[in-house]
Amino acid sequence: MITQSTSNKWTISPHGGELINRVVTGEHRKELLARAVKMPSLTISDWSISDLELIAIGGFSPLNGFLGKRDYESVLEKMRLANGLVWSIPITLPVSEKEAMRFDVGANIALKGNDGVVYGVLQLKEKFLYDKELEASYVYGTTDDAHPGVNKIFEKGDVYLAGPIVLLNRPTHEPFEKFYMDPAETRRLFRELGWKTVVGFQTRNPVHRAHEYIQKSALEIVDGLLLNPLVGETKSDDISAEIRMESYQVILEKYYPKDRTCMVIYPAAMRYAGPREAILHALVRKNYGCTHFIVGRDHAGVGDYYGTYDAQRIFDQFTKAEIGIEILKFEHSFFCKKCGNMGTTKTCPHGKEDHVHLSGTRVREMLRNGEKPPAEFSRPEVAEVLIRGMQGETEQQ
Ligand code: ADX
Repeated sequence: MITQSTSNKWTISPHGGELINRVVTGEHRKELLARAVKMPSLTISDWSISDLELIAIGGFSPLNGFLGKRDYESVLEKMRLANGLVWSIPITLPVSEKEAMRFDVGANIALKGNDGVVYGVLQLKEKFLYDKELEASYVYGTTDDAHPGVNKIFEKGDVYLAGPIVLLNRPTHEPFEKFYMDPAETRRLFRELGWKTVVGFQTRNPVHRAHEYIQKSALEIVDGLLLNPLVGETKSDDISAEIRMESYQVILEKYYPKDRTCMVIYPAAMRYAGPREAILHALVRKNYGCTHFIVGRDHAGVGDYYGTYDAQRIFDQFTKAEIGIEILKFEHSFFCKKCGNMGTTKTCPHGKEDHVHLSGTRVREMLRNGEKPPAEFSRPEVAEVLIRGMQGETEQQ
């Protein structure tokens, strides 16, 4: 729902109505950091640090901590929190059984990174065992451990720790710090720019012509575009965030209207959960202040686990008001040689033989070999950055 705030500017309600802020600052932070030294401590993965941060900054509103058992089961079975709010992927803190024994329910636990930094504190409300196969089949629709998300579940500890958190130190996002903003900050930015409607775009890939086409189609009907690339953990054969970020800057500079586009990183881990992740991605972008969100072909998909439009259809299970952000669904887009432009089967009357189609694997192979994909597939400036980046990575190996 878009409402007019008292300052006479337009804003969209965060999921659940309140933008969560669990970032502790000033004297309170100093005090808690001093107390944390005496708390039992737990070293958590980069993935969990990223979840901790997204909860704290409000990206995962209405969550104020890691899910307890009731919410967890409800999310798996109904794609809703126990209070009925739509939520599609459980945000949980896994530990081994041995580690879980060290903590008593009611304790405050200092959450540390591998670097020894105390990132936050968990007020332990609950610890519970969970069924990995069940979680995999609900969230990913498969228990095949060749699926990168499923594989992660099987690698994790067997117990979930649950309870509210606070964030004491923010993880660094270098070298992308200047592209980092909290949801509260993007909301303010959109107001300052006078953008009443903003389309959010999730990506874990370089921006190719098809991405550009659907973003710009959306931009024809809204005020601004938030390019919101995911820069957290991705699978090893995805193009690294460093290379992608360079390519985004090049394409934005050359081909996008500066006053109607902004780029902010999305510091989350990629789940590859297809349809369920599309819902999460949409709700998070609503929290960042977007009014619209793009879901194209096989959103957040991997391999052949999901149907091309499953991630669009899943939204039909909910009312528009429950999702609260407008989903812009785009068909598979391509360049058509006969039309001489981008399109989809909705707009192009020609056959497959006239369409430029390249698989992700083929494109990566070309780039590694220093070959530019056709300009109909990728802007040459983007291809140059990708080739340079990927060849640099190969040399380092
Ligand atoms: S994702 O895992 O982050 O979804 P990707 O970065 O490739 O992968 O996609 C970003 C968005 O663009 C998603 O909404 C996806 O569905 C959409 N998309 C990617 N390629 C195409 C295409 N050729 N046609 C239409 N939509 C696409």
